[in-house]
Amino acid sequence: MTEHQTENPRLSAEQIKAIDGFYNAMKGAKRIMTYYNCAMLEAETKFKVLHYQFSLEQDRNPIESIKTRLKSVESISEKLTRRGLPLSLESMEVNLSDVAGVRVICPFVDDIYTVAECFLAQDDITLIKATDYIKQPKPNGYRSLHLIVELPIFLQHEKRMMRVEVQLRTIAMDFWATLEHKMHYKKEIPEEIAQELRDELRTCAEDISALDVRMEKIRQKIENAKNTQ
Ligand code: GTP
Ligand code: MG
Repeated sequence: MTEHQTENPRLSAEQIKAIDGFYNAMKGAKRIMTYYNCAMLEAETKFKVLHYQFSLEQDRNPIESIKTRLKSVESISEKLTRRGLPLSLESMEVNLSDVAGVRVICPFVDDIYTVAECFLAQDDITLIKATDYIKQPKPNGYRSLHLIVELPIFLQHEKRMMRVEVQLRTIAMDFWATLEHKMHYKKEIPEEIAQELRDELRTCAEDISALDVRMEKIRQKIENAKNTQ
């Protein structure tokens, strides 16, 4: 019985049924989004732990920062619609792997692989899918390492396996992706200018990638110089 029903005796049986249906749907949505939030926190904590541990043992940290986001209702329904999938909580759980997202920003490219390896080696993490957009960038120049993982969350009476999308990228790749992302929201840009911007962004992605490589080499030389002293 919902509060509405007990409070208002003039409601018809049909209205009560509708309210109950709505109430249960809202409760179900809140519950599942809470579980995704918990899974996101679990994954974030794992990266935070690695960050603290690296701080103890090294004079620099392969994790620069960590960001989290829960997919908005708008994005969830947009993605399900775009893919021609049913609009339901069940469909979301089955078909979407990025409801819970964690983004890890690393200073250098080799840090990305170090951090990913440490994360995936943990015995409660199951790798579902890895997509390496660094080795094989998207045609627009997008680079990042994407990991879809499954991890457990521990509730009062049950253990639940949840999927989380982890994106690992360098500071430079993040700088690029943030600017490029803005293009997706500027639908009013005339096609000619939009094409110019896409070309410019692709060139920038290549420049950034070359810069990442150069910076990593400089860092390695500094480290080697320190070691031989
Ligand atoms: P989405 O429907 O965009 O989630 O794509 P997907 O599920 O097929 O997976 P994909 O690996 O292509 O992208 C997942 C996420 O990576 C996106 O939601 C973005 O956060 C990020 N991403 C992927 N491609 C691009 C890109 O070209 N530009 C930017 N800025 N971000 C991207
Ligand atoms: Mg996505």
